[in-house]
Amino acid sequence: MGKMTPRRSQRSIARTDGRFRDIGSPFPTLAHMPRFSSPRDERYQLPDLLEATTAIAQRFLAGIGERPVQPGAVTLPVATLPEMGLGTAAVLERLEQTVLPLLTASAGPRYLGFVTGGATPAALAADWLTAAVDNNAAEASSVAAVTLEQQAIAMLCDLLALPAVTVGWFVTGATMANVVGLATGRQWLGEQRGVDVAEDGASALPRLRLLSGTPHSSAVKAAAMIGMGRATLQRVSTIGNSEQADIDALSTALRESDAPTIIIANAGTVTTTAFDDIDAMATLAHEHGAWLHVDGAFGLFAMLLPAHASSLNGLHRADSICGDAHKWLNVPYDCGFALTRHAEVQSRVFRNAANYFFDNGALPDPFHFGPENSRRLRALPVWASLLAYGRSGIGDVIAECCACAASLGAWITDHPDLELLAPVRLNVVIFRLGDALVAGRDAGDVTRRFLAAVAAGGDLFLTPGATGGQHGVRAAFSNWRTSAGDDLPLIERGIEAGVAAIRKG
Ligand SMILES: Cc1ncc(COP(=O)(O)O)c(C=O)c1O
Repeated sequence: MGKMTPRRSQRSIARTDGRFRDIGSPFPTLAHMPRFSSPRDERYQLPDLLEATTAIAQRFLAGIGERPVQPGAVTLPVATLPEMGLGTAAVLERLEQTVLPLLTASAGPRYLGFVTGGATPAALAADWLTAAVDNNAAEASSVAAVTLEQQAIAMLCDLLALPAVTVGWFVTGATMANVVGLATGRQWLGEQRGVDVAEDGASALPRLRLLSGTPHSSAVKAAAMIGMGRATLQRVSTIGNSEQADIDALSTALRESDAPTIIIANAGTVTTTAFDDIDAMATLAHEHGAWLHVDGAFGLFAMLLPAHASSLNGLHRADSICGDAHKWLNVPYDCGFALTRHAEVQSRVFRNAANYFFDNGALPDPFHFGPENSRRLRALPVWASLLAYGRSGIGDVIAECCACAASLGAWITDHPDLELLAPVRLNVVIFRLGDALVAGRDAGDVTRRFLAAVAAGGDLFLTPGATGGQHGVRAAFSNWRTSAGDDLPLIERGIEAGVAAIRKG
């Protein structure tokens, strides 16, 4: 379609009531909407486009529990850059018809891979508004945006029983929150020794080491990203065959060397949801002048479960904390948060100066405290969710996820062909295929085929995991939509389909 310019009559109608009402229908569908290939011409159409987008989103979400969780063969139609654009109406039509059906239902109730949250109504609505207002929340000239971010962080700190000295900023996810925590820890360790790593570089602080029992791979990646190096990680042995760090072993490692040290406490390991003893680690960190970073990407929200809150004892003593909102808080991607008691040290790592920056005077620019110079108002969906649902509503989601995990764990325990690899403590179930099912074949290969068969069945999506040297399958419950009553029967049916496929050979 060639470039069209809105007719004068359309423009005047648009200017009076914000909509095109002269195109044949009181509720213009995409097919009937005029096509414009310039955003300036299209602006009068914006109300109709947003309404059409809402309808598309509603149709997508209405079927999210019914569609295959993982679509089969995915062939996205080729897209090439047109000289003359198609216009947003045509693009929306194409999106709904040819793209959305191919996307995973990862926001749905039975996508149990990785640690995947969905988007609650409050979070989704606020996320849309985040794009609509399109504020750069990294600079303090957006006073309300920056204040709102601080309010969201304060509510998160309240939820996590953290004292007022804890401050924080939003980042894209837990990986970046780990980057912020480790970079700030390194800076602090350097300053204790009269070295400014931000100024003089990583080589100014040799012998730096990371001590952790079962760190998430993203913490190791963070060490690589900031030039600390993956090899700085020294594994602390764990208790028995659990993933919880052995405090005696950590104590020995700290006594053995006076090297500048960051301890990473894991508050909810991704495979078995093990929690390190944060309080004991904080005591050791204090005694040895080490920095304590807590990776609680999803496990932080265990604070809302009376039976689990004690797993986070000592959290307030951490120097830095990594959390994710796009996991268990069910805020859309991408949204993590980095908390700290050492804002000034953090700003010495991330500070940024240029003569075109606007000095607000009262509020410091958030870009002095995190990796990005510009970012969306990520705080808004968090702020809206926390206000909309409160401690109790969010706690209900967390509790239901754990109830689902416990029920699935009990079902697996009773299943003749499946075996739990770890007790179900929180929201993750890790199990393996029994020996009779593997039947002497390569367990990793059989597990991969099982996962593919489960995904092909469409009822649910699972991802692999391993613990104690055994290949396993993980089911992580993190979505607000998942309910034991509605979803467990389908989850069990999907797993049975995978078992049947393996039995067939
Ligand atoms: C404990 C932990 N830390 C960090 C991460 C990384 O999170 P993201 O993918 O949001 O960067 C994850 C992801 O599952 C996690 O479970």
